[in-house]
Formats: sequence, structure tokens, C-alpha cells
Amino acid sequence: ASSSSPASAASNPADPNATKQPFVIGVSGGTASGKTTVCDMIIQQLHDHRVVLVNQDSFYRGLTPEESERVHEYNFDHPDAFDTEQLLECVQKLKCGQSVQVPIYDFKIHRRSSDTFRQVNASDVIILEGILVFHDQRVRNLMNMKIFVDTDADVRLARRIRRDTVERGRDINSVLEMYAKFVKPAFDDFVHPSKKYADVIIPRGGDNHVAIDLIVQHIHTKLGQHDLCKIYPNMYVIQSTFQI
Ligand code: CTP
Repeated sequence: ASSSSPASAASNPADPNATKQPFVIGVSGGTASGKTTVCDMIIQQLHDHRVVLVNQDSFYRGLTPEESERVHEYNFDHPDAFDTEQLLECVQKLKCGQSVQVPIYDFKIHRRSSDTFRQVNASDVIILEGILVFHDQRVRNLMNMKIFVDTDADVRLARRIRRDTVERGRDINSVLEMYAKFVKPAFDDFVHPSKKYADVIIPRGGDNHVAIDLIVQHIHTKLGQHDLCKIYPNMYVIQSTFQI
């Protein structure tokens, strides 16, 4: 199904500042759903544009000493685990064409590297990826396109066990305990309900080449319109949404 509506005043290309704004894509989905693979495939196919990836994980709050001591009781899947104000500020700056310093998060020690940041430069496309990037309305409102990667829970759990034991230094019992105590309930309470905000839902994640091709074509069209707007500033853009 598809629907279209006239462009809002904010996207009126008669305003030259509006046309210069980067295209912001939100990519959400449960843990280990394949969000990173989907983002990598989009980035690869948009090789003729400047694309940057921002991970919501970078904005995990640092734990207090008490929380660190009882890390097994900490819920990393709750929206409060993230510094959403900092994430919001970061995406707002990028959207205005400014460079930002993004924190680097270490999953093994559950905290950010204290003095190391990753510089993210202004670009044509900004991809914001994470389990809860659709949770906060202010963050959602910055997105031009919202993608939800929809992968079966058993596939996600299997991947999560492999990833956490191999890459994040965890033992299998702690992974399963954390999954049952926090990850699954938070998916049901926060992640799954945010699927309703998605413009596009991709079944089977990174295996779904057709969906990714369609998404990339759509982004190309949108970026083309941005370019056209610079050439023909009086032309109006028709915005549309679509579902797979
Ligand atoms: N998490 C963790 N330890 C921390 C912080 C977070 O194990 N110190 C876990 C949370 O439980 C949360 C997950 O990290 O469920 C979020 O990362 P996830 O979305 O699984 O990682 P991605 O690589 O982005 O996932 P994908 O496979 O979809 O690309």
C-alpha cells in the first residue's frame, strides 16, 4: 500500500536551508535482529553518497559504582539505560550539518572509554541504529525514514548467545539469565510496540535483499530530489511513505 501527501512547509524546497538537511534513517529491531547487517548493506549500496552510522549503543549511560557491583541486576534494555538527551543533541547537530564527537562504548566493561570519542562528520545520509531508536518521539521526529528489522525471536536468541559468548566475554548461563530477566520483557514492553512507527518492516533482516534494494532505491530517489531542489528551488517535493 502507498499513500502520498503534499510536502510540509519544513520540506518546501523554496527554503534553501531545508534542502541541505541530511536524510536521516532510523533502523530499529530487537537484539541481534540484524540491524547492523541491514545498515552495512544500505551504506554499501549508497557508495556514491556520504553516509554516517550512529549507534544508540554509544549513548549507554555510565554505571554508578553501586550499579557496576551489581551489574547482573542492571537492565540495559530499558529506555532509561540510554542518555537520550545526548543522543538527541548529537543527531540534531548532524542534521544541521555539524560534526559531532560520539562516545565509544565497551560492552565488556559496561562503560564508555573515558577519553576516546569517534568523530562523525556532516554527511548526506545519517543512519541511526539501535533497539530503542523509535522510543523517544523527539528522536523519531528527526527521522525521514524508519525501518524495523523483524527477525524471529529464536533466531535472535541463538545469535545473541553466540555473539555474547564469543565477542562480549559472557558465559552462556549469564546470557540466558539476562535474556529471560531483562531482554525479552523489554522487547515486549518497548521494542515491539515501537514497530508501529516504522515506515518499512523488513522480515528476515539482512537476508532480505529485495527489501534492502527497494529501500536503497527509495533513498536514491529522495536524495535525487534533494539535488533537484538545489537546481530548481521553486519545485515542490511530494513526500510519500510505503510498506513492504
Ligand atoms: N547490552 C549488553 N551489555 C551492555 C550493554 C548492552 O549486553 N553493557 C545489550 C542489551 O541487553 C541490548 C543489546 O546490548 O539488548 C543491544 O545491542 P544489540 O541491538 O543486540 O546489538 P546490535 O549489534 O546493534 O544488534 P544487531 O545484531 O541487530 O545488529
